[in-house]
Amino acid sequence: MKTTAMRMRAILVLLIAASTAASSASRCHSGDKAALLAIKAALGNPYHFASWTAASPCCDWYDVDCDASTGRVVGLSVFQDANLTGAIPDAVAGLAHLRTLRLHHLPGISGPIPPAIARLSNLSFLTISWTAVSGPVPTFLGALTRLSQLDLSFNALAGTVPASLAALPSLYSVDLSRNRLTGSLPPLLFSKAPQVAYLRLSHNNLTGGVPAEFSAVAFAQIDLSRNGFTGDASGLFGRAKPVQQMDLSRNALSFNLSGVELPEQLIFLDVSHNTIYGGVPAQVANLSSLQFFNVSYNRLCGAVPAGGNTARFDAYSFQHNRCLCGAPLANPCT
Ligand SMILES: *[C@@H]1O[C@H](CO)[C@@H](O)[C@H](O)[C@H]1NC(C)=O
Ligand SMILES: *[C@@H]1O[C@H](CO)[C@@H](O)[C@H](O)[C@H]1NC(C)=O
Ligand SMILES: *[C@@H]1O[C@H](CO)[C@@H](O)[C@H](O)[C@H]1NC(C)=O
Ligand SMILES: *[C@@H]1O[C@H](CO)[C@@H](O)[C@H](O)[C@H]1NC(C)=O
Ligand SMILES: *[C@@H]1O[C@H](CO)[C@@H](O)[C@H](O)[C@H]1NC(C)=O
Ligand SMILES: *[C@@H]1O[C@H](CO)[C@@H](O)[C@H](O)[C@H]1NC(C)=O
Repeated sequence: MKTTAMRMRAILVLLIAASTAASSASRCHSGDKAALLAIKAALGNPYHFASWTAASPCCDWYDVDCDASTGRVVGLSVFQDANLTGAIPDAVAGLAHLRTLRLHHLPGISGPIPPAIARLSNLSFLTISWTAVSGPVPTFLGALTRLSQLDLSFNALAGTVPASLAALPSLYSVDLSRNRLTGSLPPLLFSKAPQVAYLRLSHNNLTGGVPAEFSAVAFAQIDLSRNGFTGDASGLFGRAKPVQQMDLSRNALSFNLSGVELPEQLIFLDVSHNTIYGGVPAQVANLSSLQFFNVSYNRLCGAVPAGGNTARFDAYSFQHNRCLCGAPLANPCT
């Protein structure tokens, strides 16, 4: 049996719901709504976008983020749906105020990255990852002057890393791992980075040297593992460098490790499977943050440093070198 109080409460809830709907209706720009509906149509009106209906305000739609003050669509983040198929729709270019575009874990999305993306002049975060997108890392991304983070990992992209990325004044994070990229790196990549830089390029077929210009970049993280890089990477090292994670493993790098100063903030260093020579710097024992260290499968010689934090590292960190000796390796130094 309903009491008057219960009826009153029900009416109040209805009133609040109605006023919320009214205020959000005014928060959907008609141009943004048209662009989103065109994206939905281009992908074949999939179930994923069931909440995207002409009758409701677009700022309430699934995957859509609006700026609270302007009411414009500033974010579109589509995640995790194997049912979405087709190319990235050109209609994204209609979302003129977009700052964030994330297409992640959409294995049915294929085709090249469309030039329409370059018209999103305020785009700051671009993620297209774990998709079947192919073709090049487009040169036209160099038109996105506000781009700060670019993640195109786990796709089927081929060709080179375009030099146009080096001109971007806000760019500080690039992840192109797990593609089919070839060629050498643009020497000026991150030469304008406004803060510490993050670079992940693992599992490609990149070749050539680590650009000498990289020694001037403040990397916090650099992962060049599983490529075909050659030559001297010692310029990435230096006691005062902010780098915390460096993975150079499984390349064809060749330089004298004795001469390098290890960055003091280092947490993770893997240089395994290269042709690095010289010895292990004694300074490794002094790095209090270092959690992972791997110099195995190189051409190192001399005694493994002892004391300090070295008890953290077992023989697997040092195995398969030319003539490294002493604990934790089985062969003593003579
Ligand atoms: C994908 O499609 C199948 C079959 O139509 C459906 O059962 C499933 O819920 C859909 N998945 C998503 C994430 O929409
Ligand atoms: C781009 O961002 C700037 C600064 O945040 C803003 O003033 C401008 O209106 C934005 N332009 C568009 C098209 O969103
Ligand atoms: C790199 O190139 C080799 C030889 O051409 C090929 O077998 C391999 O699949 C390539 N790797 C990637 C990640 O594309
Ligand atoms: C490596 O550099 C050290 C000095 O830093 C030098 O003594 C040594 O001979 C060099 N090793 C090789 C193999 O060039
Ligand atoms: C290790 O640290 C000690 C004490 O701070 C210092 O005396 C020594 O020179 C350092 N060794 C290296 C190789 O940096
Ligand atoms: C170092 O790398 C080698 C080669 O990939 C691997 O066998 C070894 O287990 C690694 N060591 C550690 C401590 O993970």
